[in-house]
Amino acid sequence: MKKFPKNFLWGASTSAYQVEGGWNQDGKEPSVQDIRKPVPDTTDFKVASDHYNRYKEDVKLFKELGLKAYRFSISWTRVMSHGKVNEKGLAFYDNLINELLAQGIEPIPTVFHFDLPFSLQAEGGWANRATIDAFVTYCQLLFERYGDRVNYWQTINEQNMLVFASRALDGKTASWKEVFQGNHHMLVAQAKAMKIYHEGGYPGKIGPAPNIACVYPKSEKPEDMLAAEYMSALRNWLFLDPAVYGRYNHLAMRMLKAMDAVPEITAEDEQVLKENTADFIAFNYYNSMTVAASKNGKQNDAKDQQSGFSIPGFFQTETNQHLPITEFSNWPIDPVGLRVTANQLYERYHLPVLITENGLGQEDTLTSDGKIHDNYRIEYLAAHIEQMRLAIEDGVEFIGYCPWSAIDLISTHEGFRKRYGFVYVNREDFDLKDLKRYKKDSFFWYQQVIQQNGLEK
Ligand code: BG6
Repeated sequence: MKKFPKNFLWGASTSAYQVEGGWNQDGKEPSVQDIRKPVPDTTDFKVASDHYNRYKEDVKLFKELGLKAYRFSISWTRVMSHGKVNEKGLAFYDNLINELLAQGIEPIPTVFHFDLPFSLQAEGGWANRATIDAFVTYCQLLFERYGDRVNYWQTINEQNMLVFASRALDGKTASWKEVFQGNHHMLVAQAKAMKIYHEGGYPGKIGPAPNIACVYPKSEKPEDMLAAEYMSALRNWLFLDPAVYGRYNHLAMRMLKAMDAVPEITAEDEQVLKENTADFIAFNYYNSMTVAASKNGKQNDAKDQQSGFSIPGFFQTETNQHLPITEFSNWPIDPVGLRVTANQLYERYHLPVLITENGLGQEDTLTSDGKIHDNYRIEYLAAHIEQMRLAIEDGVEFIGYCPWSAIDLISTHEGFRKRYGFVYVNREDFDLKDLKRYKKDSFFWYQQVIQQNGLEK
């Protein structure tokens, strides 16, 4: 038996707009996700898995699964409506957190997961400096209300993918200049949130939650190696260096100049970034990237969060011939890449890490006797868990592992058919059925992993 450290947080993950539903219940203001036109042939986010109304039943299932931690996000527009505190929305997360604690499950909330209030978006969203203050006010409310019961806070989920895959995530298109100004505002907002958290003397830790992927050079050519460094700087370190070191990454800045996308940075911003940094790093890992030196001068945008992209003059995304791909989205499957990524993070920042997402999206079949035989998911997760264990053996300090997702929910842009959960939710994209919960084979498998604190072999 290959055991994990004592107190390792075996968890699972969701996000508010993808799982909750109740999109206009109890005074909730619409978020950008409620307003966004769904991708053709996929559902909207109005009902999702109806977790808002069934959270007690769901937490019971999480308890049966044996979860030690549950990573979820708080819906900004549920707890604040048009800038005003919404007591009913706040009460929902109070109840959820209390229910989790009562079952011995550590609540790990994300403050913001792709669901900006639509009213802020209408005013320019993150590109508007005023959104920084709105975010800080919102964070203050959360820390005051839940800070006594939370040990790990994440600020922003996948800020880097909001930048590079915004079309898939919130339907936005904007110039690089606007995108990176918005990105800068998010970095400052995050630093200010960490400031009030640390000054508030709360008992826990706070950190960012980007999507981090190691980047391989396509060949042993020095130019391809340089291309990999460029992509890593732009995709990974541009987001983590400010959060951990309090300053921008030099290579990323070099690229922003060439892309005519250098943001306006005030002296006060620089100070705020420098003085307020993260306590730990949460990161989502689905796959690695592979690039070569830029040859064709074409800019390719990321199709979605896990796909590569190309920046003319710096790098272009290539297929990695050594990796199998997922059936649903053609994403490479690279468990060893998880070990590489974790080691890179730890070597660079020397902070404890927490995996907040990792998983396989696939269509599942509910059999007539109420079973879901998702061996493909078990294989995927087992391979990644083994590489995480090896990374721990390498010396990486791991807090825990929260695969995506605790329960079926709606994919960011590929509907309900693309399922990730340990628990099956009986609905289709356009047929809500009875939303009944069923335990998948992966549920029983993960239950055993947690009980044994590791994989059998
Ligand atoms: C991550 C997001 O990028 O990937 C999640 O944080 C998302 O919100 C997950 O659901 C899987 O991607 P997708 O597009 O299949 O939902």
